[in-house]
Amino acid sequence: MLDLSDFDLNRIDRDFIEDPHPVLHALRREQPVFRNADGSVYLTRYDDVLKVYRSRDMLSDKTEAFGEKFGQCPLHKHHTTSLIFNDPPYHTVVRKLIAGAFTPRKLAEFEPLIDGIVDRLLDRVEDLGNLDLIDDFAKVLPTEIISFMLGIPEEHRAQLRGYSLAILGALDPVVPQERLEAGNKAVEEFGAILTELIDHRRRNPDGGHQGEVLESLIFGEHDGRRLTQEELVQNCIFLLNAGHETTTSLVGNAMGTLFDWPAQHALLREQPELIGSAVEEFLRIESPLQIGNRLAGEEIALSTGAIPKGTYIHTSIAAANRDPEVFENPDAVDITRSPNRQIAFITGIHVCLGASLARVEGRIAIGKLVRRFPKIHQTGPRTRVPLARFRGFASLPVSVR
Ligand code: HEM
Repeated sequence: MLDLSDFDLNRIDRDFIEDPHPVLHALRREQPVFRNADGSVYLTRYDDVLKVYRSRDMLSDKTEAFGEKFGQCPLHKHHTTSLIFNDPPYHTVVRKLIAGAFTPRKLAEFEPLIDGIVDRLLDRVEDLGNLDLIDDFAKVLPTEIISFMLGIPEEHRAQLRGYSLAILGALDPVVPQERLEAGNKAVEEFGAILTELIDHRRRNPDGGHQGEVLESLIFGEHDGRRLTQEELVQNCIFLLNAGHETTTSLVGNAMGTLFDWPAQHALLREQPELIGSAVEEFLRIESPLQIGNRLAGEEIALSTGAIPKGTYIHTSIAAANRDPEVFENPDAVDITRSPNRQIAFITGIHVCLGASLARVEGRIAIGKLVRRFPKIHQTGPRTRVPLARFRGFASLPVSVR
């Protein structure tokens, strides 16, 4: 039996980051509404997590919490302006404007583009033979897609993952000073690049290309309102962050999972048509975003009783996705799992806007990699991105020969 007396989400250690599930299972069993020393709660049951996401009274606005965490600085401006950390009515307006960039028609335009990018990357993988799956493959695809969507020129693309990790790293429960500084620098530098792009695009309203979304963000209107320059810049940075690290992790985590479960790897090689349900299972077993947050705007009744208005809530998406009440044999990987009610993209008014795009990227990238390189295997130790909120690999050395 695991001892939880020392546990606090604000004091988690390297072991938890490596493998949080022994602790998450114990929490779900024994203290599913766990109270941290600062009064916040950490939820690990699927039903509780879902209830929070479905309630309109659970708030995402973080102006106050981030004020305490960051003080007045670029990181504070960024995170409090992006739609994810806002409530209606601002959230509704920005979401409507951004949703215009993710319509099924836009997605249909992206598919051949994703196909082409993956094929090109796989040619390079073949030439390399031995490579780092993250650096040489997984992170390049979302960078290319998002750069295309936002019209970011080639010369800036190499910096994008660094910006993304620096800005998202500041959201972890525990943030050292140097990580705050790196996050602030990233917001400023990426903001400057985007400001220039947006200004150029404003002066050239007809200069867009097919599939580009910057145009709908600059010129789109909802109820007669357009995004201000600050809202535009910060929400474009957010789009990079939302779609970049998560999709890189989906692809990297999927391959790490297949290396750990060789029979499942063999099954996917033999039955490539399973890629759709396989991607759902990868999202469930190693959810790229592991922890979410809400502030209780009203009292809410959860499995062990009501928690009061004003409570800060951490939802464990990772734990919900391995709840034995919902998923049979939850720690086992089964790429044929059906139904699979995983909530890696959550649910409710903030449900991931890029879920369809991420699924298409995942199916094409993982599906083609497994089909084209039946001998792909890990050649050395993998290292993790050292964050609790985002689960992914910093490196995953492989050979395709
Ligand atoms: C496997 C990949 C991805 C995962 C696991 C993921 C997960 C999530 C989750 C859990 C949220 C909700 C966060 C919250 O409110 O607490 C979210 C929101 C969001 N995601 Fe994703 N995401 C992925 C890929 C993408 C991509 C590719 C894009 C677009 C380029 C994107 C755009 C967004 C946006 C715009 C929101 C904010 C929605 C809102 O607040 O209304 N995501 N995502």
